[in-house]
Amino acid sequence: SDALKVGIAGLGTVGASLVRIIQNRANELAVTCGRAIEITAVTARDRNRDRGIDISGIAWFDTPEKLAAEADIDVFVELMGGANGPAADSVRAALERGLHVVTANKALLAASGVELAKIAEEKGALLNFEAAVAGGIPVIKALRESLTGNTVSRVYGIMNGTCNYILTRMEKEGLSFADCLREAQRLGYAEADPAFDIEGNDTAHKLAILTTLAFGSEIAADEIYLEGITNISIEDIRAASDLGYRIKLLGVAQKTESGIEQRVHPTMVPHDTVIAQVDGVTNAVAIESDILGELLMVGPGAGGNATASAVLGDIADIAKSRPGEQRVPVLGTPAASLAPYKRAR
Ligand code: NAP
Ligand code: HSE
Repeated sequence: SDALKVGIAGLGTVGASLVRIIQNRANELAVTCGRAIEITAVTARDRNRDRGIDISGIAWFDTPEKLAAEADIDVFVELMGGANGPAADSVRAALERGLHVVTANKALLAASGVELAKIAEEKGALLNFEAAVAGGIPVIKALRESLTGNTVSRVYGIMNGTCNYILTRMEKEGLSFADCLREAQRLGYAEADPAFDIEGNDTAHKLAILTTLAFGSEIAADEIYLEGITNISIEDIRAASDLGYRIKLLGVAQKTESGIEQRVHPTMVPHDTVIAQVDGVTNAVAIESDILGELLMVGPGAGGNATASAVLGDIADIAKSRPGEQRVPVLGTPAASLAPYKRAR
């Protein structure tokens, strides 16, 4: 059957990895997806930058908005970042045009996820975002599909690779906060503005998305108690260790009798727990639900290949879907049926 035509906006850490993987594994993908996956359009800010990828035969668009509106594509893949501006405008334009969208942009989803899900559901388009939370870990699929019918009581975990990388290297190698952050940036883990990582906003964006999938309530990133890791010193880490604990930046969302509680803050975790043993860029997400019990998923949380792996899985899902088919609502619950957010007292 016809190839799935993909347009990619953003060719940085994640976008360049994605292009490389799709090109290198074209034959395998065509077999597993039942049709070829072909990149037919791309854009980024600087056309002349050497990205270590071959985009010579692919149509270049000057802006993401233009690509979303005009390119001959079935899927618009947004890998630029930012809650507003070109990322938001182009994703909206693509969905309005009835194109499927794949994005890794948790800031955008935390701010406008319900509005975008409504457009997608009205247009019969798919909006997939596995890479937006916990990198390569399939946590969206778990909450959106695998746990259907379960009542979820709590979701928590380590959801920011940059912070976990910094805390781990500070503890194990005695390196300074600034040096660890610089290294995380060099490795492609950090956000364009790393304040989002170290001040906890990125974890909050991810937690807000998981809360909606888990509890069927509207996205409420502004309701999250927020504290990052900028004040954590090596002395704090050593003092915690002497008491049998490790310091982890956790996001926690739970349902209480009075409403939903969401918080992000550095937490002392007992040494002998699985979460305490999660080191470096690795993330861990625990989901507690009534039929299954506790599910704990641990895996690569950031970086080009880990993130591109999740983006590719989302593209493959679209390639395998039938036209007009919407197997699951974008946010687990139809966007028009999400409950108003009620904060725990
Ligand atoms: P990045 O390396 O900074 O790449 C961003 C890309 O977007 C660059 O190619 C840049 O163009 C392009 N871009 C930015 N603004 C643009 C604009 N106005 N018009 C056209 N192109 C524009 O970022 P990244 O690390 O790949 O992250 C991309 C997205 O994935 C973000 O939403 C991020 O939060 C998310 N994410 C990242 C990771 C990770 O580990 N890196 C993991 C999960 C999710 P130039 O190259 O020309 O500057
Ligand atoms: N900056 C993010 C992190 C990228 O470090 O976890 C993955 O979402």
